[in-house]
Amino acid sequence: MGLFKKAINQVRKPSGPLGGLMLMSMTLGHARLSAWGRTHIAPPEPREIVDLGCGGGRNTAALLKQYPSARVTAVDYAPLCVEKAARHNRAAIAQGRCTVLEGDVSHLALEAGKYDLATAFETIYFWPNLEKCFAEVARVLQPKGRLIIVNESDGTDSTGQRFENMIDGMKCYTAEEIEAALRIAGFSSIQADHYKGKPWMTIVAAK
Ligand SMILES: C[S@@+](CC[C@H](N)C(=O)[O-])C[C@H]1O[C@@H](n2cnc3c(N)ncnc32)[C@H](O)[C@@H]1O
Repeated sequence: MGLFKKAINQVRKPSGPLGGLMLMSMTLGHARLSAWGRTHIAPPEPREIVDLGCGGGRNTAALLKQYPSARVTAVDYAPLCVEKAARHNRAAIAQGRCTVLEGDVSHLALEAGKYDLATAFETIYFWPNLEKCFAEVARVLQPKGRLIIVNESDGTDSTGQRFENMIDGMKCYTAEEIEAALRIAGFSSIQADHYKGKPWMTIVAAK
C-alpha cells in the first residue's frame, strides 16, 4: 500500500504516529463543518451528551464549551483517540464534566436511556451495520433524546466517492439511505439539512 493510501486509511481507526498526524489534520479540516453542524442543536440545551467516534476530542471540547451545564461522554474504538481526547479534555475530566471511553458504537457499554443528545461527526461512514449501530444509539438515548449526524459527504459527491474507493470499509451514505436506516432503528422524526455550495449535510433524528 502506498504512503498516501496508508495515511488516508488512518481516518477509519487512527493508530501510531501516522494516526496522530491524521487526527491533527482531521481536526483542523473539520472545524468549520463541525461548527456548522453544531448550529443544528436546537433548544432545549442538552445535559447528558455522548460524542460517538470522538477522534481527538475537539468536538467534545466544543460541546463542553457550548453547553456549560452539560456532561459529555466521548467514545471511540481507537485507543489512540481515547488517549488524545482524554488529554485534550483533561480539565473537564478533572471537573467531573467529561469521561472518555474506549468502545465500539455497535456495542455501547453505556446505560440505556441516559443521554439527551448523541453526536456523530464524520464517523458513520465507518460504522459496521448502520441499522444496528443506530439501534444502539436509540437504546442509550432518553425518550426525547436526539442524534445529530454531521457528514462532509452527502453520498453523491465525487470527493466522497474517491475516498470511498481508497479507504477500506468506508461508505458515504446519502440522506435517504441514512434516513431509512434510522427508521429501521426506531427513529421517527428525521430532518436533513444541506450546506449551500458544498456536499455537507447534517441530520437530526429523534425517536
Ligand atoms: C474521521 S474520524 C472523525 C473524528 C471526530 N469525530 C472528528 O470529527 O474530528 C472517525 C472516527 O470515528 C471512529 N470510529 C469509527 N468507527 C467506529 C466505531 N464503530 N466505534 C467507535 N468509533 C469509531 C474512528 O476511530 C475515528 O476516530
